[in-house]
Amino acid sequence: MNPENLSPRTIAVSVGRPSGDGAPINQPIVLASNFRNAPDYARTDGTESWQALEHAVGALEGGRCVSFASGQGAVSAIIFALRPRVVIIPTVSYLGVRKLFELMGARDQLDTVQVEITDTPGVLAEVERRTLVHGADKVLLWIESPTNPTLDEGDVAALCAGAARLGARTAVDSTFATPMGQRALADGATVVMHSGTKFIGGHSDLMIGLASTTDDAVHDALVEARTFVGATPGALEAFLALRGLRTLPIRYEASTRNATELAARLRAHPGVEWAKNVGPMLSFILKDGASAADRACASVRVIVQATSLGGVESTMERRQKYAGDAHVNPGLIRMSVGIEDVEDLWRDLSSALAS
Ligand SMILES: Cc1ncc(COP(=O)(O)O)c(C=O)c1O
Repeated sequence: MNPENLSPRTIAVSVGRPSGDGAPINQPIVLASNFRNAPDYARTDGTESWQALEHAVGALEGGRCVSFASGQGAVSAIIFALRPRVVIIPTVSYLGVRKLFELMGARDQLDTVQVEITDTPGVLAEVERRTLVHGADKVLLWIESPTNPTLDEGDVAALCAGAARLGARTAVDSTFATPMGQRALADGATVVMHSGTKFIGGHSDLMIGLASTTDDAVHDALVEARTFVGATPGALEAFLALRGLRTLPIRYEASTRNATELAARLRAHPGVEWAKNVGPMLSFILKDGASAADRACASVRVIVQATSLGGVESTMERRQKYAGDAHVNPGLIRMSVGIEDVEDLWRDLSSALAS
């Protein structure tokens, strides 16, 4: 079976299964660190449970995938593997990633420059400036798109092409887009990563990270980072993430339909200043600010007030309450729209907005 000839829906279902007569249809969970009469060791060589997931995600992304203990584990491994001196990152982006870069900055291991990711010429001018100072191979453009939590969309293809022309490398955090919404390797990214904890797992029951690349040297450096830094995925998590991946296309489609409908209704709501969805992610700003947003989040009954996202269940949260997101609008609620009936979601949301 050549995944190149298959659609993403088919790849998600078909790749990463054992083959041969009598083989189990699903890759069993390999609960072993040690292997008889072999030099293999799980942290060094991986296990078949991880490899099945990596084959499927790699086939969806059009590259080779390495799995990690969490999204943050994947981010750390990318930095360890690519060894940038400076990372250019969107001003609004996942707070945990910015914090990691800040901590590395405090240890003089990395400089971070923040940019508006929607301003392609401005971003590329910054990349050029930094390549002249540090050398192109020391510059990494970190493209989170859509951004967490404002859903800003960078022009991934233009940014990757522009950075490559300058000799700089690019990492794309595609967590919100999923491989259904964005194929960053085809757009020229050096590496694409996901918090698989979110939409790929899809059921809020695991932590996992995934990084894919078409560059064999980068792949090997990611494996080296995982081996020696040690952020290895668990066998059960890898199994569950692959089971989640099987339904990612239909979950993504159903959640996107719901989110698009809710965004349209929110835009027509008198209490709402702004609403936007990109796929299943929906952010909106309440005119009455932080206290109205807190009241709405505390009042939902079907939707869950929770910080993570990407599950079959809808979740929402006011983001500016976190120190790392202090610069976003105080009335902004970020919602991850699930696969429930959209009329139930709207009844819940509109009565919470009236609270
Ligand atoms: C965009 C983005 N990137 C990375 C991460 C980190 O992933 P994890 O929590 O799986 O370590 C998150 C987590 O929320 C995220 O939203």
